[in-house]
Amino acid sequence: MALIERIFFLLTQRWAFCLAAIIYSLGLLYIAFHNGPSQVESSRVLTPWTSHLPANVASVSSIAHFFENFRLPVDADNFTGFNGENYLLPYYLPQKPPFNKPLSSQVLILDADTRPLDEPGGILNETWESLTTRWESMNWHTYGRLNHYLWAKIHGYDYKLVTAEDQPDIHGTWCKVPAMRQAIEHYKFVIFLDADIVLPHLHVPLEWLLNYWNINSETLIAMAKDPTTDINNDDRGQVFLNTGFVIAQQSSRTKEMFEAWDSCLNGTRYPECTQWRDKWPHEQAALGTYLRYDFDRPEDVKALPCAEANGSPEVADTGCSGKLVRHYWNDKHLVPSKVQEGILQYFMPRLHDQFLQEYEKVEVKWSDPSEEHG
Ligand SMILES: *[C@@H]1O[C@H](CO)[C@@H](O)[C@H](O)[C@H]1NC(C)=O
Ligand SMILES: *[C@@H]1O[C@H](CO)[C@@H](O)[C@H](O)[C@H]1NC(C)=O
Ligand SMILES: *[C@@H]1O[C@H](CO)[C@@H](O)[C@H](O)[C@H]1NC(C)=O
Repeated sequence: MALIERIFFLLTQRWAFCLAAIIYSLGLLYIAFHNGPSQVESSRVLTPWTSHLPANVASVSSIAHFFENFRLPVDADNFTGFNGENYLLPYYLPQKPPFNKPLSSQVLILDADTRPLDEPGGILNETWESLTTRWESMNWHTYGRLNHYLWAKIHGYDYKLVTAEDQPDIHGTWCKVPAMRQAIEHYKFVIFLDADIVLPHLHVPLEWLLNYWNINSETLIAMAKDPTTDINNDDRGQVFLNTGFVIAQQSSRTKEMFEAWDSCLNGTRYPECTQWRDKWPHEQAALGTYLRYDFDRPEDVKALPCAEANGSPEVADTGCSGKLVRHYWNDKHLVPSKVQEGILQYFMPRLHDQFLQEYEKVEVKWSDPSEEHG
């Protein structure tokens, strides 16, 4: 009996028909629960860490689609930055670098804030005076966040913005610690960014940076060193790691580390740590003074070069020129123009290319009339 005939024969049997109907219904239920917009809406409140953004870059927006032309392959051995410098993977990596497939939704790009974000210029404000002046009215942290969000969209990472409440006697920047602690339960990599962090090369994927900085299976977290000045040293004279840009990798030891970090607020693991609840540099001091000496296997807490992952070209004299990840601590007013620049640097050459492609039809050459009729 041919296959089609056999299926038809089975379907004419009542029991087989019932079975088929049950399978079909289960299938519909599965699709409804996994794709339906209702799922997104309900989980927005109930399960904030498990409702994911669509990872399919092309279908998300034409903006991300535009960037598909530029995306650096995750396993590229080098790229040339907009500063003209070439960045080559370190020689000690194998021919095929460890992160050679897109991590997509295993990566979370994470922002967190305790400030109101619906004030004029804020990222959650939905009423703007006009579309035309909006890009000038957006404040610097709205720009910073849109840079992070766009990076996530281009490479198919998930993105979340945690809006937290201010707590009495605890400085607002602490909110990133419980946010990362919860997020790392759900993602292989959590990338936390302060609002004044700007990715200058949006086409460079996280995977490439992980290869470049040699993040390996033993790394719990990685952060950039701060500039070497006395105020940036812990009480043993070691320069702090800056918590404005954090790469965290999921593991049971990472989870233990985040719990230890969080516990600084109640002093259970490090009794003297509570002084940093509201004293600068807050959670950064907790990490620098206690965590990194407690979690001290060579790969536990990785220090990234300040020149590559902290500061910006404007403060290059501090040794921190933000070549791959910029941090505008003192120049927050520059964030909007740097984020705009970070998009235009892709757009303008493309526009010029198109102009040149059409040049034959564009150019009307002014030639000497005497030559033409001569
Ligand atoms: C850098 O990448 C380009 C493009 O993939 C390649 O042609 C070039 O050989 C690479 N340069 C080095 C030094 O590996
Ligand atoms: C949002 O921005 C508009 C325009 O600047 C302003 O009128 C409005 O008060 C803001 N909303 C809130 C909740 O602050
Ligand atoms: C202190 O904080 C840690 C981390 O949040 C928590 O696990 C622990 O239960 C807290 N202890 C007390 C006594 O509140």
